[in-house]
Amino acid sequence: MDASKSADARAEALLEASTQHQKYRWLVEQPAVSPTRTDWQPGRPGEAPVVYPVQVECTPTIVYTDGPEAVRAPGVTDFPAQIALASTWNLELAYEKGVAQADESFAKRRNVILAPGIGNGRTPLAGRTPEYFGEDPLVNGLFAGAHAEGIEADGKVLSDLKHYLANEQELDRQTSSSNISERALRELYSLPYEIAVDEGSPESVMCAFNQVNGVYICESPIMQSLLKDDHGFDGFIMSDFGSVHSTTASLMNGLDQELNRPIWFTPEKLDAALAAGEITQERIDEAAFRVVRSYIRGGLFDNPLPAEAAVEASTPAHEATAKRIAEDGSVLLKNDGVLPLEAEAGQTIALFGPTASTTPTTVGSFPVSAVSVCSLTLQRNPTAAPRNTLPCEDVVSAETAITARAAEDGASVTWNNGQDIAAAAAQAAEADIAIVFGYQRMGEFSDLTDLRLQGNGDALITAVQAANPNTVVVLQTGSAVEMPWLDGVEAVLENWYGGEQQGPAIASLLFGDVAPSGKLPMTFPKSLADTPTNTPEQYPGVFSDGSTTRPAGSNEIRQVEYSEDLAIGYKWYQEEGIEPLFAFGHGLTYTTFAYDRVQVTPKSTNGAKEIRIQFKVTNTGDRTGTEIAQAYVTLPDSADAPGSRLVGWESVTLEPGEHRNVTITLSADELAEQHLLEHWDEGADDWVSAKGTYGVAVGGSSEAPIATQFTIK
Ligand code: BGC
Repeated sequence: MDASKSADARAEALLEASTQHQKYRWLVEQPAVSPTRTDWQPGRPGEAPVVYPVQVECTPTIVYTDGPEAVRAPGVTDFPAQIALASTWNLELAYEKGVAQADESFAKRRNVILAPGIGNGRTPLAGRTPEYFGEDPLVNGLFAGAHAEGIEADGKVLSDLKHYLANEQELDRQTSSSNISERALRELYSLPYEIAVDEGSPESVMCAFNQVNGVYICESPIMQSLLKDDHGFDGFIMSDFGSVHSTTASLMNGLDQELNRPIWFTPEKLDAALAAGEITQERIDEAAFRVVRSYIRGGLFDNPLPAEAAVEASTPAHEATAKRIAEDGSVLLKNDGVLPLEAEAGQTIALFGPTASTTPTTVGSFPVSAVSVCSLTLQRNPTAAPRNTLPCEDVVSAETAITARAAEDGASVTWNNGQDIAAAAAQAAEADIAIVFGYQRMGEFSDLTDLRLQGNGDALITAVQAANPNTVVVLQTGSAVEMPWLDGVEAVLENWYGGEQQGPAIASLLFGDVAPSGKLPMTFPKSLADTPTNTPEQYPGVFSDGSTTRPAGSNEIRQVEYSEDLAIGYKWYQEEGIEPLFAFGHGLTYTTFAYDRVQVTPKSTNGAKEIRIQFKVTNTGDRTGTEIAQAYVTLPDSADAPGSRLVGWESVTLEPGEHRNVTITLSADELAEQHLLEHWDEGADDWVSAKGTYGVAVGGSSEAPIATQFTIK
């Protein structure tokens, strides 16, 4: 407990003074009955209870909580989903959210947050898409790093990067193998972890449920060789909830801690494996050391949890952060000029769809309302009941916020849940402006089966837009959706799952009190058939009989072939020449921007030195606006890399007519650590920079054309 000593020295001292079984305490999350789950008993029903010292003397109580979007407790701020956070392209907001979440977590007596999550957006059907940061490895890595850094900033709460590695679908997540080339593993799937570890120094990483190339990731040598040795991760690796399948292989390949009640890291099993010579004392000591050092380094020993959990942990400042993320993370996909709304006295604005209001509408057999698109903890496949009602107590609906805002202009607002489509169309015909809310519920445990709006949303939009020429669509989805009605509507705003401040954010954006500035962190395809994983072998994966359906009673591992290799996300659409509905990086505001004078210096380099991409951005419209200016690079042909890759971005706010010269600098450190211009050479077993010409594109989305080039000699 001597805080003047290093975390290493303190951890060593504690473990030296520990019995063998006291060391084992650190190899599991819950050595005894969890203080927050008094209904749980140690061990599984029918198993002998696990015997540990309940608490190693002088050590703090450690309590874990989910998760990426909000702490799982009543009385906290419900932030928008992570996909909305990524759509802000603002790393400071990710950090700020992390600080706020840690504060709330600590007040609620929880000192490890199982967040942030990292994904690669291999298929937009993946159930956990809204928990991650889209389809680009750099965006995922930087956002996860910033969020983790924010969570750990005050030195009281740890973060946890998850779900390592290539956990890209919910379907058979515990019984499937993601089969990936070494190159794609490096360049796409492990790169975000490499970047996040470097940027955010998170104290823990969670290994996922799935296998990678035939080995459960929680017992794969990849944990040691890639994450710990190559990426230099010096925190501890915990499992997911039941993702451990062995004592020896898991521990010896680098798993440090079993999540939840121990099944494989029980004292009995560890003692037996040690006696049999299958595991080593050295590895037990190392695992315990990593866990204890992280707890100490992260401040958990020096800042014990409060005796009582606060009732209300949310603050006005945290709510303001949630609102800002909901505003800046909403993406204006289309606008033919109806937005921003200019409501006049006496006009009516008609809102449609269940999620516009907090009044529940029964769709199928479950209630759907603004609460349903508030929190990810509520999401599930659309035919299942919402999981719980936390933490959406304070959600403000679009109906409430738009009604209040329209009243300022003397306009009135109606709401119709849209279940009777003919009645909705008749009401739309009477209104001056119609706003239809379309939704999609998705989340952990199942994938989507299509990219369609749920609750008859397409039919509702089609009917309303036929009745009213001023129809705006607000989307509340966790992933991409098809938009068969797109040509008939005037504007589309993607709000994702907007958290408790969704209503006020939507109202300020629609009325132009805040100009939209979000950009898509994932491609919206025209149809599911256009996505990269378009064979059964790629998704959902197949069994040995060639079928996609699990044979009855079989535990066979589903084989998911990542044969698209590097061509996922925008790289796929570029490489195949498939026009997306809305490209990665796309997003409009209430003004327009022009780019010119793109230059790169130096024109010729050995690849190790700093590279500067310079260009001029001009606000060519008549309102102030913010543009997220993006820079992409294409590699020389010899690198055999599909499409382009994002290398950096800059947010630029300009008054009407104003211009600015922007420089995106790829520092020597970033070039080396983020492999911005490198590719993985399987023969050389290393990162290399191809010699030749690199194209540079700069603009408002991944569709920006190549404007200049430079050479690596
Ligand atoms: C999820 C994790 C989560 C864990 C503990 C698992 O089902 O995959 O993301 O952290 O449960 O709640």
